[in-house]
Amino acid sequence: MMPYIGGRRVRDVLKLMGVVGVVLCFTLSLIWGLKPRKAPRPRPNLSLPLRILPLGDAITWGWQPANLENGTNGYRAPLLHELVYAHYRSVNLVGTQHSGLMPNNDNEGHPGFTLSQIMGAMKAGLEMRPNVVLLHAGTTDLSRPETAEERWRDAPKRLGSLLDHVLETCPDAVILVAKIIQAQKTQTRANVNIFNNAIPRLVEERVEKGFKLVVVDQSVVGPEELVDGLHPSYAGYFHMGNIWFQAVKDVSAKALITPPVAVQP
Ligand SMILES: *[C@@H]1O[C@H](CO)[C@@H](O)[C@H](O)[C@H]1NC(C)=O
Ligand SMILES: *[C@@H]1O[C@H](CO)[C@@H](O)[C@H](O)[C@H]1NC(C)=O
Repeated sequence: MMPYIGGRRVRDVLKLMGVVGVVLCFTLSLIWGLKPRKAPRPRPNLSLPLRILPLGDAITWGWQPANLENGTNGYRAPLLHELVYAHYRSVNLVGTQHSGLMPNNDNEGHPGFTLSQIMGAMKAGLEMRPNVVLLHAGTTDLSRPETAEERWRDAPKRLGSLLDHVLETCPDAVILVAKIIQAQKTQTRANVNIFNNAIPRLVEERVEKGFKLVVVDQSVVGPEELVDGLHPSYAGYFHMGNIWFQAVKDVSAKALITPPVAVQP
């Protein structure tokens, strides 16, 4: 027979182990249960036609020193390629401008245009009623000497006004608003950073009104991906196209894109 004290100790130890075990099991199952279950990943509707308006300045047009006359495909070729490769059935780029050698070379990129000038030139492109707008604009304003009418620090306000004009004509469209790419010059880079930091707020204000806008971070395209300190090299355009593709795929998976509305021919 075990001594009374020893037996009690053994019993106590066993009891304690039991309690610890129960607590442990309970805690573990709680943690397990609380772990977010993998929600079924939303799938993009690949049958929904994409009517995309690439909107902006020279960077949308595909500016390259070696192709000044006709421009290049820019970011649009890699974007289109990736969308087709991802099995989007119908992808149409639209716009009044044409640049680069690809068959579907429509865009609304205006080389050398400031935000106000883009706003003045974009109406016909918007009237094509894209269901997705890719907006990359502000580089011209921020890289040239500022004027009294168009101060660097007011560039976000001008972008906001441009956005409101886009939404007026295309209230149903998803607007992907780029934090714009970096520049080489110190002053321009500083201007770009201030401008980019203001973009999430501009987007948020309009989302709160019920519009569909998303910030797309193209500012990860850095000075080493530029051809002349301001415009992307071919590698830079490729990088941009990939970022746009991911962004289009994301809004598509979130079912933000609606079928393009009919337009008068
Ligand atoms: C996908 O889009 C097409 C074209 O707009 C539509 O006919 C179809 O019902 C959509 N499918 C789903 C699952 O929403
Ligand atoms: C630009 O396009 C026009 C019309 O297609 C063509 O005649 C011209 O040769 C092109 N210029 C260059 C530099 O490729």
